[in-house]
Amino acid sequence: MDRKKFLQSLLGASAFLTVPFSAYGTEDQAILEMIKDSSKDTKGSMFGFKAAPIKKVRVGIIGLGNRGKTLLEMFQWMIEKGQAEIVGLSDLKPKNVVAAQEKLSKWQKTKPQTYSKDVNDWEHLAKQDNVDLLLITTPWEWHTPMALFGMNHGKHVATEVPIAYSLSDCWALVETAERTKRHCIMLENCCYNEEELFVLNMIENGVFGDLTHAEGAYLHDLRAHMLSEDYYQGQWRLKHHINRDGNFYTTHGLGPLSFYMHIGRGDTYDYLTSMSSRELNLSQTAKRMKSSYTAFRCGDMNSTMIKTKLGKTMLLQFDVHTGRPYSRINKVVGTKAVHDGYPSRLFIDSEEPVFWGHRWLEAEAYQNYKAKYTHPMITKLKTISQGFKQGHGGMDFVMMYRLISCLNLGLPLDMNVYDGVMWSAITPLSELSVASKSLPLPFPDFTGGRWKDKTELEIMQVLKNGASSK
Ligand SMILES: NC(=O)c1ccc[n+]([C@@H]2O[C@H](COP(=O)([O-])OP(=O)(O)OC[C@H]3O[C@@H](n4cnc5c(N)ncnc54)[C@H](O)[C@@H]3O)[C@@H](O)[C@H]2O)c1
Repeated sequence: MDRKKFLQSLLGASAFLTVPFSAYGTEDQAILEMIKDSSKDTKGSMFGFKAAPIKKVRVGIIGLGNRGKTLLEMFQWMIEKGQAEIVGLSDLKPKNVVAAQEKLSKWQKTKPQTYSKDVNDWEHLAKQDNVDLLLITTPWEWHTPMALFGMNHGKHVATEVPIAYSLSDCWALVETAERTKRHCIMLENCCYNEEELFVLNMIENGVFGDLTHAEGAYLHDLRAHMLSEDYYQGQWRLKHHINRDGNFYTTHGLGPLSFYMHIGRGDTYDYLTSMSSRELNLSQTAKRMKSSYTAFRCGDMNSTMIKTKLGKTMLLQFDVHTGRPYSRINKVVGTKAVHDGYPSRLFIDSEEPVFWGHRWLEAEAYQNYKAKYTHPMITKLKTISQGFKQGHGGMDFVMMYRLISCLNLGLPLDMNVYDGVMWSAITPLSELSVASKSLPLPFPDFTGGRWKDKTELEIMQVLKNGASSK
């Protein structure tokens, strides 16, 4: 791809309208100018946004592959309790729709409308009058167009991760959510995992003092999945690794870290710099497996450093090429305590500095913290959802339960459109930085300056507003 096309794909065509091509002489300056010029005048008006309560949320699901099937199962409990109903299903493959319909018929009396004629048949689902919420679980390239179309047809939308992977798509989502006054969220399930909520609850209760640094990641050996010809429909995920290089899957690590650091609620990302290693593991495996694709631009390991306006740092890593155990790292460092994940360990600092003995808490002391600070929603939901499918150890159910319950009650959602685009926009910026020798890049303000407001996280208000005990 030539440089102009590459920049255009990350920043959007509009970015070029204001930058004279003569500016290319000083390339770095041109990139910075383009990021600035791609900014729009947003208002931040979707912070704390409440829609009218919806007694029973009518849901349409687009995409019934690996993820769509799992998320459908999360609805069984809510359908049986009368909180939600699935009214439409769409997938390119008719057999995926039939399988979903059959599963659903065990829990729901009414039949959903189905759409699988062609690549645009989902538009009929998005236009269906009785849909309140569109759930988008398709490959990445569809998330933004489907979300925009859904909002423009009056629907609340929730997309799988990432919500977008160009800056212009991020701006379009913010602008459309603010104009249509529809919820537009990204379904970042890791924010609902027991360990991440335990850490968050400790942070919110002062156990860590003031935070200085955090590390998160998506380290997941996906070689078998990506090289398989039928795991991801048309090997869509592998194809991103052929021509792109950066961090494509930021949000599982970054979502929880951003909650810990109140990003968008008192602090925000200031700038980032990104670096990728050489690529070896995916291509070597692809050759061994005689894959039709054997050359990849994406390095095995991407490391992106983010500095926040209040001076905190984050390290975010991405590697889906290397054989190794799964990890999201989940490290958080404060003035009073440190946590490391995989496995979860906690260090509590002493009042006075000591020469020796800096050890993680022993099992019993750790369990005392666990007992005291496990997020109350986790304890409650584990009990009510016993015997039902949980998804990723429980976090998928908690996430869908929170989304539907907040819509039932007309409460603001835990994650808003700004969270979704901020966590996703790291991807195009990481690609630009990698391509420019790790040039530090400023982070656009999608919030119209509202990130400065110190507001409480919605997910910490559950006991006050009742959406965990319904
Ligand atoms: N949050 C998580 O833990 C998690 C886990 C897995 C996947 N995901 C995300 O879920 C999304 C889907 O991943 P997947 O593993 O299910 O992929 P997949 O290939 O198994 O499923 C995608 C489905 O979308 C359908 N589809 C594609 N284009 C369509 C169109 N125009 N209209 C209707 N249907 C269409 C395909 O037929 C396919 O069945 C991705 O964004 C992925 O990143 C998230």
